[in-house]
Amino acid sequence: MSETAKIEIEGKSYEFPVVTGSENEKAIDIKKLRGTTGCITIDPGFKNTGSTTSAITYLDGENGILRYRGYPIEQLAEKATFLEVAFLLIYGELPTKSELENFQESITKHTLVHEDMKQFFEAYPAKAHPMGVMASMVCSLSTFYPESQDPNRPKEAIDLTMHRLIAKLPTLAAMSYKNAMRHPFVYPKNELGYCENFLNMMFSMPTEEYTPDPVVAEALNKLLILHADHEQNCSASTVRIVGSSQANLYASISAGVSALWGPLHGGANQAVIEMLDKIQADGGDLEKWVAKAKDKNDPFRLMGFGHRVYKNFDPRAKIIKKACDDVLEKLGVEDPALDIAKKLEKIALEDPYFVERGLYPNVDFYSGIIYKALNIPTEMFTVMFALGRLPGWIAQWKEMVENKEPIGRPRQIYTGENQRDYVSIDKR
Ligand code: CMC
Repeated sequence: MSETAKIEIEGKSYEFPVVTGSENEKAIDIKKLRGTTGCITIDPGFKNTGSTTSAITYLDGENGILRYRGYPIEQLAEKATFLEVAFLLIYGELPTKSELENFQESITKHTLVHEDMKQFFEAYPAKAHPMGVMASMVCSLSTFYPESQDPNRPKEAIDLTMHRLIAKLPTLAAMSYKNAMRHPFVYPKNELGYCENFLNMMFSMPTEEYTPDPVVAEALNKLLILHADHEQNCSASTVRIVGSSQANLYASISAGVSALWGPLHGGANQAVIEMLDKIQADGGDLEKWVAKAKDKNDPFRLMGFGHRVYKNFDPRAKIIKKACDDVLEKLGVEDPALDIAKKLEKIALEDPYFVERGLYPNVDFYSGIIYKALNIPTEMFTVMFALGRLPGWIAQWKEMVENKEPIGRPRQIYTGENQRDYVSIDKR
């Protein structure tokens, strides 16, 4: 017999079905709640609300589990390439050899952006934050491909848009960096792998030879995989909700880039490094900064700590912490920020405030230190997160479309004034 949940409102009892996920997670299906009871639910920040069923990513925050399409993140980060993971997320299965070759070829063929886009870059001030530039550029792509605005396009046309996005995002990211430096743009090189091509566009100069360091390319591959999807987070939910209005995929992804930018989400990786630098410049008194983070009258939070769903540990942080040690050792980089981060982590993990609230280092606590070692400028850190998250956003959008999900439109409980009459200005 299928399970149900009983709700009693004003003495009347109602039954609702209980939905069970493939990992035995349970939800009360309230689709008919308003129709039968006249009530809605209130859940600011959606802390208890499932917006969808999804077959993409499984996350168990209590036990620190993260799997893409059933594959543990640890195995993917160790063994897969980013494009393999992108294919897995978007199409549901790991690609065969020929599927991967075709996918890679399609991505490689579309790395160039229209020459006219250069003029957009030139109009931005040198200090423009690259996330602002990225969000605008991704949306601008839709104007070069007007056919993408048709929500009823055939599957092949949708695939092409998805491939174009994966191909062009690294090009646009590197262009935003070069533009900020007022250096000449570097065109994509199609004989290079995905990560190597990005590094080449970022760091090669017409004045000297540049060969991407395999250690750097490997670290980048791992970081992109670790960020590739994270189920219904703020930016993925944004992409789904914007896409649910049938806005085109470029516009939906651009909205995801904007949502990611905030310091409580992807912007935390930039905020962590800025925080560690600030602590160091302030003399490195860690106890003082931990006390500030605990003080409810102080807006300071320990950036890179805490997570909406991980209340035990973030499995990505575990992998990144190890990768961080490896990369710094292989590249021979000594970074005092790493020492501060490790000490801060130790103090916080022993402090009852953090223990009681289940606040642990998240993916962004150490990722900035690796990006720094790879010579990625601080303002580009969140752009790196966006490059990684792109296949996840696309997969979430595709699932929403294929499931024919209705337009996202939450309700509210109104707490404003009751009806009153207009008062002319001389009587106010
Ligand atoms: N430093 C100090 N206190 C914290 C922190 C922190 N980083 N994070 C949460 N708390 C406290 C918070 O004040 C609250 O305390 P109380 O119960 O006494 O009111 C309690 O812990 C629960 O916090 P919350 O804000 O209700 O939890 P949330 O699920 O709404 O927020 C979060 C999650 C990630 C926004 C939050 O932990 C935070 O602001 N962390 C710092 C920013 C950060 O690192 N963000 C990156 C997240 S990982 C990348 C990604 O996937 O987006």
